[in-house]
Amino acid sequence: MIFPISRQGLQDIAQFLIAGAVVFLVLALVTRYRGGEWRRFAISAGALGLLVIVSYALAFTVAPNIPTPAVPFTARFAQNPTPDTQETIDAGRVVFQANCAICHGPRGLGDGPQAFLLQPRPVNLQLHVPQHAPGELFYWITNGVAGTGMPAWKDTLSDAQRWQVVRYLQALASGKVDR
Ligand code: HEC
Repeated sequence: MIFPISRQGLQDIAQFLIAGAVVFLVLALVTRYRGGEWRRFAISAGALGLLVIVSYALAFTVAPNIPTPAVPFTARFAQNPTPDTQETIDAGRVVFQANCAICHGPRGLGDGPQAFLLQPRPVNLQLHVPQHAPGELFYWITNGVAGTGMPAWKDTLSDAQRWQVVRYLQALASGKVDR
């Protein structure tokens, strides 16, 4: 399952709902003032107000965790099968330096020799890795990142190697290793 809309999109929708709720509230007040049947308008305003709350709740909880391009729900929660040990980290380092450093830089800072040729440039992985679930990182490494120079590694690296790299990147980002 893919969450279909970004935070910005949800916030934009909420703005329209707020405008609608205000209009119905004004109509309710006017109708009430004239002694008419105002309940209908008040209920509409309330319903729109409720949708605003739902939109904002989703915009700030679910939506920002789903990056673009979105990672399938099940892939996101995949668990890293490799042990969290120094050996795994070292193995991940070897894979990273051999395959990834050319773009991402030797410490993942986005400053590899090829980075300057890419549009968009690779981000600073030390900042970005902690913001994502391991399953998401694994998914991007496996399938590449659409619309960028990030290649898919599923045919080049084994599952274990891709998970080792995830462990290495997490260790790098958390300061557990410094290169
Ligand atoms: C040809 C250059 C290139 C190579 C080689 C490369 N990448 Fe990337 N990578 C990119 C670009 C460009 C992006 C998209 C911008 C971004 O998100 O950093 C990216 C994105 C990523 C992301 C998503 C980061 C995020 O938070 O958005 C991860 C994780 C990643 N790469 C890991 C790797 C790993 C691990 C390897 C080696 C197995 C690798 N990359 C090899 C260019 C490259």
